[in-house]
Amino acid sequence: MPNTLSPDWLKKSVFKPDIFKGKVVFVTGGAGTICRVQTEAMILLGADAAIIGRRPEVTQKAADEMAQLRPGAKVIGVGNTDVREVKSLVAAAERTVKELGRIDFVICGAAGNFLSDFNHLSSNAFKSVISIDLLGSYNTVKACFPELRKNKGSILFVSATLHYYGIPFQTHVSAAKAGIDALSNALAVELGPLGIRSNCIAPGAIAGTEGIDRLLPADMREKALSLIPAQRWGQTEDIANGTVYVFSEAASYVSGTTIVVDGAGWHTSNGA
Ligand code: HXC
Repeated sequence: MPNTLSPDWLKKSVFKPDIFKGKVVFVTGGAGTICRVQTEAMILLGADAAIIGRRPEVTQKAADEMAQLRPGAKVIGVGNTDVREVKSLVAAAERTVKELGRIDFVICGAAGNFLSDFNHLSSNAFKSVISIDLLGSYNTVKACFPELRKNKGSILFVSATLHYYGIPFQTHVSAAKAGIDALSNALAVELGPLGIRSNCIAPGAIAGTEGIDRLLPADMREKALSLIPAQRWGQTEDIANGTVYVFSEAASYVSGTTIVVDGAGWHTSNGA
């Protein structure tokens, strides 16, 4: 399964190719699978992008590859950035403004996860995931806030559906994602009067991602697939399309909500 958009995505797309012309998207976790594809769609539709990550080589390679997607696209890799450290994100935001001129859209996508039963999950392990997913999302918005306020920007948190029903071995990430939903709602209300929108996107089971390949045991996949009403795994392109919608003018009155992109899976899966 490719972790990049299919080459004919733009040709098939229902979106106009220049809707994000002159805009800049700041993405944590942008070298990963889902966030990379979200960012690629934004670039193809005219945006420039800053890819924020911990590993400089990985981040730069992803940025260089993504810059090839559209003639004239500017994509910078900002490595050595740990979302747990707000200072590190402030430096990344400052560099983005220096090199790309502005920040309009923020995708809070950096995440950490592993399966662990509660009995063996240490307090430090719980804290690590909360620090990357929840505190990291807060820090990202905090660092980008001056630009979001100036440009009446828009925030998209990458959430999940597992905390809607409760699932074993995922107490840490469930708590973090529930916190992210609450953070997004509160920001939508508080920052709405400044012209800033805040939303979450909640991917279901997306093919080719760690959520299936590493976190869903192989012997549970067939049953999991059969429970999805859409009768297929999600594709990273499904998340890209949702992302483009939320950032587009078509969603200018959409704030404080979560776009669930899961083929109705959470209604039937219940963590089974
Ligand atoms: C139990 C674990 C563990 C594991 C780490 N720990 N891995 N405990 N099972 N598999 C514990 C360690 O023992 C330690 O606790 C604490 O967690 C911190 O570990 P470190 O390795 O020091 O932390 P760090 O290097 O910061 O790594 C963070 C990480 C790591 C979250 C643990 O997995 C990571 O950075 N992953 C990034 C990539 C990633 O996971 N992406 C997944 C995204 S998928 P002690 O007590 O020993 O000190 C996703 C999908 C969500 O998010 C939705 C699902 C459907």
